[in-house]
Amino acid sequence: MTITGKTRVCGVIGEPIEHTLSPIMHNAAFQALNLDYIFLAFRVKPAGVESAVDGMRALNIRGLNVTMPHKSTIIKHLDRVDLSAQIINSVNTILNKENLLFGFNTDGIGALKALKENGVELKGRKVLLLGAGGAARAIAYAMAKEADELAILNRTVKQAQVLAKLLEKSFNKKIAAGSLSPSDIQSNIRDSDILINATSVGMKPKADESPVAPKLFRSNLAIMDIVYNPLETKLSKEAKAAGAKVVSGVEMLIYQGAASFEIWTGKSAPVGVMRQAALDHLQKV
Ligand SMILES: NC(=O)c1ccc[n+]([C@@H]2O[C@H](COP(=O)([O-])OP(=O)(O)OC[C@H]3O[C@@H](n4cnc5c(N)ncnc54)[C@H](OP(=O)(O)O)[C@@H]3O)[C@@H](O)[C@H]2O)c1
Repeated sequence: MTITGKTRVCGVIGEPIEHTLSPIMHNAAFQALNLDYIFLAFRVKPAGVESAVDGMRALNIRGLNVTMPHKSTIIKHLDRVDLSAQIINSVNTILNKENLLFGFNTDGIGALKALKENGVELKGRKVLLLGAGGAARAIAYAMAKEADELAILNRTVKQAQVLAKLLEKSFNKKIAAGSLSPSDIQSNIRDSDILINATSVGMKPKADESPVAPKLFRSNLAIMDIVYNPLETKLSKEAKAAGAKVVSGVEMLIYQGAASFEIWTGKSAPVGVMRQAALDHLQKV
């Protein structure tokens, strides 16, 4: 890769940021398409968000991904925010177009595409979503739009209830909310077609945990665990053992990245290249 005076800069901001896979995926994609772009990771503390946005304008940075803990606080510094990102109060992608900053959220699109591209249809289906945090809010929006029914369960029940009410208003659909207790999980999983874990339960270093008892899995339930570190979570392993179809969290990661790539470059993302780069890296670490 030759960096010239014309090379366009993209990046990701967050704290912590060292673990991010975005530079690996995006630089591989830029190279594969021979695009004169480079992608870097910037550690930005909460107090530095406004300065980072000013810096994006001043340095003419083309695009940024935004990760924890800035997805909501960044919104007030942008010029325009996509309606779905406004509703869920979360932006993970910024496009700088002639010094106007546009905010989007590609997490929901990423989850939707990950399911569809892996043969899981949403139409006519009931989705059970575990979690009501940043990623879950974006996924809930996409599922409320596409699936027939949605139930949201969260450790802090209030968060699930607030999210369900918000989406009921946006989509004019009944959305159930509850806790992550074994009885709430059991009663909701029974008539669900798709289970998505969007809690951080099962993420390293607590990879020996799962939010769902293995006896509740069955072969006609599709599962996506958005946790991708470890590559195969306890939940995914146990669901697979019960014969369920399992979609890896890496798939969502790739498709949300692909959607951001397309916003910045206007080109179709080389999804296969991004997947290989992410998997190679995850297998190494
Ligand atoms: N595959 C992808 O593309 C992708 C994208 C984004 C995030 N992720 C992964 O998704 C996970 C969540 O990320 P996030 O950004 O949404 O984080 P977040 O905003 O901090 O939300 C965390 C969620 O997990 C729940 N939770 C945390 N610890 C728990 C525990 N011990 N028991 C039960 N519930 C617990 C929280 O419940 P409370 O509300 O009760 O705290 C909340 O619902 C992380 O593992 C992250 O790496 C993956």
